[in-house]
Amino acid sequence: MGEAHSMPVRGAIVAMTRDNIIGLNGTIPWHHSEDLKRFKRTTMGATIVMGRLTWESINCKALPGRRNIVISRNPVEKIESYTSVPEALEACDSDTWIIGGGQIYGASLYWISVLDVTYVPDRINDERAVRFPTIDPSIWEQTSSEPLGDSSLLNVIYRRR
Ligand SMILES: NC(=O)c1ccc[n+]([C@@H]2O[C@H](COP(=O)([O-])OP(=O)(O)OC[C@H]3O[C@@H](n4cnc5c(N)ncnc54)[C@H](OP(=O)(O)O)[C@@H]3O)[C@@H](O)[C@H]2O)c1
Repeated sequence: MGEAHSMPVRGAIVAMTRDNIIGLNGTIPWHHSEDLKRFKRTTMGATIVMGRLTWESINCKALPGRRNIVISRNPVEKIESYTSVPEALEACDSDTWIIGGGQIYGASLYWISVLDVTYVPDRINDERAVRFPTIDPSIWEQTSSEPLGDSSLLNVIYRRR
């Protein structure tokens, strides 16, 4: 009685360079174990939503301990899938994290209220690189910023204003 119930989180979690690069050639062009640990900690037990290409980048194997959802305009075998982001989110009533990639982040920003961004120090010079959409400061307020682990990574939380 009188207990506060917080609303489930609906956010995006991403690792990116200072210029918003998140991927190259169907993969993530760096490896930072502190970031992987944070990703696991944050998403464990929650629902994760990803685009079809990100699904293929993890070899079409569901990440354990989480409800995995894939977005594609076509049916996807052996995994829960939807043909649009709002349709997928409609089917989720607990904590939900959009986990990429670029297209799905772009299609999701409107529907979510938290961005969990880990900035990596890597520099990628390749015009084929995939990027996270621009984070508009008139929409998103930075509410925390702290080094992750060995401190070459910076985790920043943004909340919808
Ligand atoms: N750094 C990070 O944190 C991070 C996280 C995740 C991924 N990544 C990287 O990001 C890259 C993949 O990103 P990506 O942008 O190329 O692909 P993606 O967003 O993972 O998947 C794109 C696919 O999703 C479907 N899709 C996209 N928009 C849709 C919409 N509005 N409605 C319905 N379906 C839609 C389409 O599937 P169909 O073609 O089947 O219709 C499209 O081909 C990879 O390099 C991956 O490693 C990085």
